[in-house]
Amino acid sequence: MPPEDETGNRRDFLCHATLGTGAVVTGAAVWPLIDQMNPSADVRAEASVEVDVSAVEPGMQLTVTWRGKPVFIRRRTPEEIAAARAVDLAALIDRQAENANRPGTDAQDGNRTLDEAGEWLVMVGVCTHLGCVPVGNGAGDFGGWFCPCHGSHYDTAGRIRKGPAPRNLPVPLARFIDDTTIRLG
Ligand code: FES
Repeated sequence: MPPEDETGNRRDFLCHATLGTGAVVTGAAVWPLIDQMNPSADVRAEASVEVDVSAVEPGMQLTVTWRGKPVFIRRRTPEEIAAARAVDLAALIDRQAENANRPGTDAQDGNRTLDEAGEWLVMVGVCTHLGCVPVGNGAGDFGGWFCPCHGSHYDTAGRIRKGPAPRNLPVPLARFIDDTTIRLG
């Protein structure tokens, strides 16, 4: 049974995952059983979701809807990692990591990714200009993501490099809980 919202109505939570090609991955994301204990609004706000990334190869991206927003989970290629790590901080528009897992750190690539090797990049897929969803898979002038609404270009670390968006795509609370599962929140 889905959880209740603040007005007591049952809500249906949409939670889906798609591969970069648009193929649906069933069971890739599962809402936790938070409704069983009739939690408070605060508890619901902290709800987490677990995503199976076992089918994600380098160069592929999952998009998971979480807390009503798209979250991009990309497994980067060695070329994408190298491009992101070659960038001088001075070249960045937003020099903050914007990473909820590493608050206060700078935007060097190593502060944006989930793992030390830099393969896994998890970001809220909402443009920091006015909230459109950027397109990915090497889009834009910097080979990362491009927001067509007003022309914002993000690099392979999801950092804003050109256009009106003021901040890097935010990295939400996320971590691996085993070799193939990422927990958001
Ligand atoms: S909303 Fe993305 S550039 Fe304006």
